[in-house]
Amino acid sequence: MSHTLLGISGSLTSGGSTRALVDYVLRAAEEAFPDIATAVVDLRDVRLSFCDGRPLAEYPDDTAAVVERIQAADAYVIGTPIYRGSYTGALKNLLDHLPVEALTGKVAGLVGNAASDHHYLSIDQELRPVLMWFNMHLVPGSVYVRGNQMQASQVVDDRVQDHLRQLGRAVVSLHRGVQAAAGGPPPLSQWAGRRG
Ligand SMILES: Cc1cc2nc3c(=O)[nH]c(=O)nc-3n(C[C@H](O)[C@H](O)[C@H](O)COP(=O)(O)O)c2cc1C
Repeated sequence: MSHTLLGISGSLTSGGSTRALVDYVLRAAEEAFPDIATAVVDLRDVRLSFCDGRPLAEYPDDTAAVVERIQAADAYVIGTPIYRGSYTGALKNLLDHLPVEALTGKVAGLVGNAASDHHYLSIDQELRPVLMWFNMHLVPGSVYVRGNQMQASQVVDDRVQDHLRQLGRAVVSLHRGVQAAAGGPPPLSQWAGRRG
């Protein structure tokens, strides 16, 4: 059975770097594992409401359909620009919409990009803990790309290209390993008396 590796591009900028980085990682994964299927949810192409806790079916736009697409995927490459020292509000809003079961036990690789070096730990210190709350398996090591390592939204730095290819291979390898492994304890949100 073909498994779907879904890219999530957490930028709303048209023609931005984040989408190019996510695509690069997906292409590397496809080259290494031709039997996987890839697709992308690009937040600039969909209309999501701000999450206010109502049932998904009551949002008037793409929100429920996007959540369904994400829930249906098997593994993820999640990309975000750094905004104000963290990942984007648009990506956080998407994560706020997701039921914990959408991501629990699944694998993701993470890629960030920014104008400067200053926030190179943001992906690991901000995004990674939120995904751990979902009980995801995350590829150890994320890729952080600086503006001067890209030109016209294409990666021009050999080492970064190599790291992106490694991320693509790792996310599929880890997904396959996790498939064969026993699950751990449930997410905190599923402990008795609590709801996520
Ligand atoms: C609102 C906003 C906030 C930003 N904050 C930061 C920041 O804190 N640190 C940084 O290095 N770059 C920051 N940047 C630069 C972006 O991270 C950088 O341009 C990134 O490549 C944009 O990705 P995109 O082209 O996919 O949108 C910011 C850009 C914007 C528009």
